[in-house]
Amino acid sequence: MEKKNYKRTTVTAALPYANGGVHIGHLAGVYVPADIYTRYLRLKGQEVMFVCGSDEHGVPITIRARKEGITPQQVVDRYHEMISRSFEDFGISFDVYSRTTSKTHHKFAADFFKKLYDDGKLTEKTSTQLYDEEAHQFLADRYVTGECPHCHNQGAYGDQCEKCGRDLSPTELINPKSTISGSTPVLRETKNWYLPLNEYQEWLKKWILEGHKEWRSNVYGQCKSWLEMDLQPRAMTRDLDWGIPVPVEGAEGKVLYVWFDAPIGYISNTKELCERDPERWGTWQKWWQDDDTRLVHFIGKDNIVFHCIIFPTMMHAHGGYIMPDNVPSNEFLNLENDKISTSRNWAVWLHEYLVDFPGKQDVMRYVLTANAPETKDNNFMWSDFQERNNSELVAIYGNFVNRALQLTKKYFGGVVPECGELTNTDKAAIADFADVKVRVEQHLEQFKFRDALKEAMNLARIGNKYITECEPWKLWKQVDAALVQPAVERREDGTLTAAALKKQQDQNAQLIAQSEAARRIATILNVSLQLVGNLSIAFDPFMPFSSNKLRKMLCLDDFRWEQLGSTDILPAGHAMQEPDLLFEKIEDEAIQAQLDRLERIKKENELAAHKANPVKQDIAFEEWEKLDIRVGTVLECEKVPKADKLLRFLIDDGLEKRTIVSGIAKYYKPEELIGKQVCFLANLPARKLRGIESQGMILSAEDADGSLSVVTTLRTVKPGSEVK
Ligand code: 2FM
Ligand code: ZN
Repeated sequence: MEKKNYKRTTVTAALPYANGGVHIGHLAGVYVPADIYTRYLRLKGQEVMFVCGSDEHGVPITIRARKEGITPQQVVDRYHEMISRSFEDFGISFDVYSRTTSKTHHKFAADFFKKLYDDGKLTEKTSTQLYDEEAHQFLADRYVTGECPHCHNQGAYGDQCEKCGRDLSPTELINPKSTISGSTPVLRETKNWYLPLNEYQEWLKKWILEGHKEWRSNVYGQCKSWLEMDLQPRAMTRDLDWGIPVPVEGAEGKVLYVWFDAPIGYISNTKELCERDPERWGTWQKWWQDDDTRLVHFIGKDNIVFHCIIFPTMMHAHGGYIMPDNVPSNEFLNLENDKISTSRNWAVWLHEYLVDFPGKQDVMRYVLTANAPETKDNNFMWSDFQERNNSELVAIYGNFVNRALQLTKKYFGGVVPECGELTNTDKAAIADFADVKVRVEQHLEQFKFRDALKEAMNLARIGNKYITECEPWKLWKQVDAALVQPAVERREDGTLTAAALKKQQDQNAQLIAQSEAARRIATILNVSLQLVGNLSIAFDPFMPFSSNKLRKMLCLDDFRWEQLGSTDILPAGHAMQEPDLLFEKIEDEAIQAQLDRLERIKKENELAAHKANPVKQDIAFEEWEKLDIRVGTVLECEKVPKADKLLRFLIDDGLEKRTIVSGIAKYYKPEELIGKQVCFLANLPARKLRGIESQGMILSAEDADGSLSVVTTLRTVKPGSEVK
């Protein structure tokens, strides 16, 4: 699609559920990149609004409230507070952070729905669903468990069986149980309103698949696979008592589906801000309905379908709205090689991090950006965190800044010295950083935050190399000590009085006039200080706290992004404050404490998992003997079409080739398994899965998070070998 010259940008970051704290996975996936982008646009002087808020409806919140014996409102009040504080603490610079329980939002979302309803854009349908008579509520698919009708796994969910991989509907489960009350649900008829996504499929295909080929490949790819299937009408209402009441007659006891109301929260929060300060922000329509506005949604990968397909369809059906121009979505961040999980407490919580590492918000922002899961899932390791802090922030960035400032303090009383004639070394260094602006911008415009950060760090590398090459401390030995007076006294806040500044400037001028070595040192430090000034600008979107601190030391109140790459950021004669360290080393003990905490959590989880899944009753030896488990070599392996979870294997079982279908597609790429040996149950009667006859079952170990790992042997054995 042709690039348009927009007048302004609306940036949204996914509304977090007010159901728990914020962890580093959230920060890395959504909020830090969104914040970097917004800060960058602001620095460039562009008109931008950064919108977010708490997502306060939905079933999980009602469940937590019930568990804790409090109201859903109390749950969301608690977490809204905690989440907003974390964002503020980490410098996530939202222009508005509101909540979906606000009056403005309730009215806005209800009106939005009503318009779709009045315009005949929604279809009404009655369906039969499971109802929990004890909890007095219909049950979302995930809240029903029971026996899988296909493989007889006892713990199948209402939407899928994780053992055999079949998609299920909750009414298919044998002996279903509500996970809310434990009671047996009953079937009840209920009426809901649906958004007929199918009617918009062609429009979506054209808009995304033809019009937005530039979207990140993970986003485009996910949209493509959705749009290649037949889209189905999707219910936009739910039978629940927590949410926004459906504003039509005959809908008593029903609320808007949380995924209907949450994205509307972006718009209603915009409205709230515009009404609070219309002079500054204008009307909300300007940010959502003006073709000159560019809309960008920052989200995690689990939100892609909602932001690329459902929400745009809602806005398109409603009419009048602009469409997102881009939806930069990150993949997931793991923690120490394991999936981040709120329920297992496998996370680094922002509020806890700040207790252990006070004032180190930027270190986390830096590490999460340097290692951002932009194109694939990534891993956060505490050792990497320490390494990046100590050998990049401290040893490169902090070290260069400190050298330049300390030397200027020592030789010129903290006043920027005059730049003399440039040598080739100076010119080469200046040329090296002159185009950093273009490079950082190019990456940021393409949402490549890791690369942009690398460029900024490269500036510090250039600085270090330059100052090391020039060795001003060696030249200083040639300066006549008698020419240098002790640096002038400073005020308590580190600034110089006007008289003291004058005195220092005069002394510097004299020194430079009388000594060639001093002239050369002055030039080296002037160039170095310009580089330091550049660093404070280049790093500003990424690490706002340390950039601020640095600018304070430099006494640089006024700066513009346009200055990036230039050599006149700090004029000669400009007085700076006493230098302070920008970053400090993180010691092994601090890292070990974090690893110990995770180890403790892992142990607790293992214990809990063991309790929840105790060893089954003893069986007779003959029972065991009946199982014929064998080793086979995988000859072929491929995905089963139209079944997300299934892989079809062709196994050499020693005698012949047998086909086995297994529900592990989520955990392996087919090509990874070809040639590998697997263990399988050979005497399970054949059964059909998606029309394919499966002759046995491949054995997998289920990890605490439900993920599956295929069982194999330690040494290669002859195909057909028995497992005993
Ligand atoms: O996945 C989530 O955390 C959702 N609360 C995101 C909602 S984003 C939006 F649509 F509001
Ligand atoms: Zn099953």
